[in-house]
Amino acid sequence: MSDQDADEAARTLPLRHSDDIQGDILAGFRKDHETVLLLRFPDDLAPVRNWLRRLIPHIATTRQVAAFNAEYSTARHTLAGTDPAALNATWVNVSLTYAGLRFLMDEEPFPDQQPEGVQAFVKGAFARAEINGDDGESAPGEWLFGRADQPVHAVLTVASDDQAKLEVRASQLRVAAARAGLTVTFEQVGATLPGERKGHEHFGFKDGVSQPGVRDFDRPDPRDPIHVHGKPGTRILPAGEFVVGHPKLTGEAPPLPEWTRNGSFQVVRRLAQDVPAWWAQAGAARRQLDKEGIELPPGTGTEWLAARAVGRWRSGASVAHNPNAEPPTKPGAPDDNLISYVDDPEGHTTPHFAHIRKTNPRDGIGGDFTNADTRRIIRRGIPYGQPFDPAAGTGHGPDADRGLVFIAYMADLAVQFEFLQQAWVNNVDFLQPETGNDPVIGKDTDVNLKLDTNPEGKKLHFAQFVRTEGTVYAFAPSLSTLRSLAG
Ligand code: HEM
Repeated sequence: MSDQDADEAARTLPLRHSDDIQGDILAGFRKDHETVLLLRFPDDLAPVRNWLRRLIPHIATTRQVAAFNAEYSTARHTLAGTDPAALNATWVNVSLTYAGLRFLMDEEPFPDQQPEGVQAFVKGAFARAEINGDDGESAPGEWLFGRADQPVHAVLTVASDDQAKLEVRASQLRVAAARAGLTVTFEQVGATLPGERKGHEHFGFKDGVSQPGVRDFDRPDPRDPIHVHGKPGTRILPAGEFVVGHPKLTGEAPPLPEWTRNGSFQVVRRLAQDVPAWWAQAGAARRQLDKEGIELPPGTGTEWLAARAVGRWRSGASVAHNPNAEPPTKPGAPDDNLISYVDDPEGHTTPHFAHIRKTNPRDGIGGDFTNADTRRIIRRGIPYGQPFDPAAGTGHGPDADRGLVFIAYMADLAVQFEFLQQAWVNNVDFLQPETGNDPVIGKDTDVNLKLDTNPEGKKLHFAQFVRTEGTVYAFAPSLSTLRSLAG
């Protein structure tokens, strides 16, 4: 970037230069290796404040992460799409649960009556399990972390381009925590999948395609300023949807205490994926369509049905634009994200139950984006475990642990994450009666597959093969708030 461009960006995109907002929220660490450490505080306040004071200089800010990511993208472009090995960084962010904040403040963090989103945070994910549909095999009593009997006070997110550097950093953090009397109650490692699978989740689909753009952080396209430059379809939303204390889409945000400004609410969730079972049921559902004589376009197999469950093909190409077959990938082409559902009101192309339509119905509610835009979240998840590939040996078989470390940031837990889970993902009557739950992440369901050739729909059973194994609600405060918490 030339000096002139940098000056221009600083003026027009002030959030890129924030030294107050933590770096994973708006810029995103986007690393191949990540470790999440869940910490419990000891009874003594002074050593915990000391620990925090020493940690603060190591916390990555938006300015640092955004500058690194910009340099990385430029270098990648010059290297014709390969990763610039010489450029690497290791980042750390910290967030606090309600119990952790209460302890560090030594008083009630939210003294006034608070909106639902704050109540969700105060009660925590264990108490909100029912709202999120966490029952049966996902019931919170079975969780690996976040159970009522396992208090978590702080969450450290450590991420690096380099596995060895990540381990060094994580062990320094473990030592510093232990010295201050903190206990690591759970540690979750994550890594992008190897080789061609990089950037894809365990079922095989490209992930992280559709994210919201953020005003004053992302550069608008000069010819189409509602979208991010170079990312058609990535709508630019006010920063207050993700960072507390900034303007929101619907005007004034509910007043929260001043210390929350420039912070963001965080959901950390371990979602186990049973890959062979999910694909086996997609295959069975596809065969059922044949048995029942439903007319389908020629050459459509299990992949065709699985793409309808997600709303995208494995490559990330949308079903909306490529209804019947996965198109060849075009190197360098922008992600296929300029999607509208207005011309598909009955869901004959992208079904109403499709994961991407459930979690972001776009203009498919009332013909415009207003409703869906207030439910967006910034996703920073990363897979854990080895890919399913039984021939590759230990760790790759059907019983090995694998899934998604789901991490998301938002300004309101109730209006955003919990609403998605409750009102859309696990609502069988989403958009129309008997649509079914989300067949990727929702509870056991019959989805109603409607097609031009079968407009009344065909019910197909999808059992739940994504299981919640732990959830924590936390808050990633601004650097200035962290400093005052450290005393
Ligand atoms: C193991 C669990 C999950 C898997 C395998 C999964 C998979 C995917 C895939 C393949 C995509 C399409 C690519 C993309 O746009 O990034 C996607 C998009 C998305 N997912 Fe998930 N996801 C999971 C959990 C969740 C959860 C728990 C939520 C929130 C409740 C969520 C919300 C979203 C959203 C908002 C999008 C973007 C939709 C759009 O804007 O078009 N996902 N997910």
